[in-house]
Amino acid sequence: MGDTAMVVSPHPLASEVGLDILKKGGNAVDAAVAVQFALAVVYPRAGNIGGGGFMVIRFEDGSTDAIDYREKAPLAAERDMYLDSAGDVISGLSTLGHLAVGVPGTVDGLIRAHKKHGKLDFASLIEPAIQLADKGYQLTITEAERISRFQQGFQDANTVKNVFMRDTFLEGHLLVQKDLAHTLQLIRDNGREGFYAGETADKIVAEMQRGKGLIALEDLAQYEAQWRRPIKGSYKNFNIISMPPSSSGGVALLQMLEMIEPYPIAEWGPRDLRTVHLLTEAERRAYADRAEHMGDTDFYDVPLDRLLDSAYLDSRMLDFSMDSATVSEAIVAGDFKLLKESFETTHTSIVDAEGNAVSLTTTLNSNFGSKVMVGDAGFFLNNEMDDFSAKPGVPNQFGLVGTEANAIQPGKRMLSSMTPTIVEKDGALFLVLGAPGGSTIITAVFQVFLNVAEFGMDLSEAVDAGRFHHQWLPDVIAVEKGTFSPELIEQMEALGHEFREVDRMAVIKAIHVKEDGTLHGVGDRRNPDDDAKGY
Ligand code: GLY
Repeated sequence: MGDTAMVVSPHPLASEVGLDILKKGGNAVDAAVAVQFALAVVYPRAGNIGGGGFMVIRFEDGSTDAIDYREKAPLAAERDMYLDSAGDVISGLSTLGHLAVGVPGTVDGLIRAHKKHGKLDFASLIEPAIQLADKGYQLTITEAERISRFQQGFQDANTVKNVFMRDTFLEGHLLVQKDLAHTLQLIRDNGREGFYAGETADKIVAEMQRGKGLIALEDLAQYEAQWRRPIKGSYKNFNIISMPPSSSGGVALLQMLEMIEPYPIAEWGPRDLRTVHLLTEAERRAYADRAEHMGDTDFYDVPLDRLLDSAYLDSRMLDFSMDSATVSEAIVAGDFKLLKESFETTHTSIVDAEGNAVSLTTTLNSNFGSKVMVGDAGFFLNNEMDDFSAKPGVPNQFGLVGTEANAIQPGKRMLSSMTPTIVEKDGALFLVLGAPGGSTIITAVFQVFLNVAEFGMDLSEAVDAGRFHHQWLPDVIAVEKGTFSPELIEQMEALGHEFREVDRMAVIKAIHVKEDGTLHGVGDRRNPDDDAKGY
């Protein structure tokens, strides 16, 4: 709880960095920049400078902004680059190793965000990360376990040995990252040129050449993050501010909310058959639209107006019946088993002393991305190319399918599910939330918002509550163990729904601004390192 300001991130050291910046008079954007750089050091499985992300900002006067620093396909990328001569997807090529890497956007995005909206000196925001990399920090048990678990991937993907490659890591191990400290110093001293040109760019390109990857100096020189107009919509007396393409998150969230708005779910309750069935059917329809229509708007004419048109959304629910599940058209079934390894995006929510709010989601895609660390530069590269549709109808690692809208093109951004979101209630700041979790991010943000807004749950309860997820294909509801009673599952099965239990899904980090102005920050029980710090 806090009276003044709050940071929620996936790691206590990063939250501490953010809190310190806020206490020094930095605003929410300053703190977000500092936290993201710190996460690149202390949360290497997802925090990054070799990946990308999205930041949604709401200022205390109600104005908003958003920046898209999603990775792009390299200029040498080709539509069928992951297919064999028979036209089949080659397993693993878009997820492990150098060919999986998109042109990183994080450094350009953070620098642009700071230039436009930051208050404090940039060097002071990146310095805590430099110190953490240079002096080292002690691994938590979760982090030690995760680094140990991915040793085989590191061995397979890297040609240059790095500090993450050793037999075991235990809780308390001091992880010193001198190469990363040096790269961060180059960024501190040279701004974007410290990453996209000179020594760091040369190292990235040398790494690509060693591993037959595609990123060239021109890709790095040309990379630019884009300012976007946040996507906005309303649900009853709430305004939703979220991320437009190249993420599908904001659009799908608004679609689902509008589809369910006419129904009295507060009266029914969160675990009532009618509520669960309705939410599932809205999710199914939004993800079907995602697969068919969504991609990078700089390359594809996404019909945003139509997707968010009330008449269209009404028509989407015309075939909804309280008595039976709709059958998703069978194309190629995805596989939720694969989801387990792939939940490692990460999110930070911040509110500063003036009431400015930032919701920032960033990712390398899988745990440690492509597993490739840039030789002698100390940072992992993403495997975001897997978020493209390698072949129409064939699922990616999240079981998501896509079409032409999200086909690979040189310089195009791959479609994301990240959903950094800010919610107003009666015009005032109410919730800041988002999550890692691949395709399950959007449904998690949807359900946590409803838990607070409709079911009156306290934010901790809302975040901790079990979640369920339908993404059109595969035609099955993924549900966290223990979420539904056997009776509810039986009733849902009688309507025609199928279930698959999973250990966990998206991991929410959120802030609730209570009526008296108190800030309630909540990390998720699903990540033991999640940490809220406020004052
Ligand atoms: N890489 C996960 C996402 O952007 O949706």
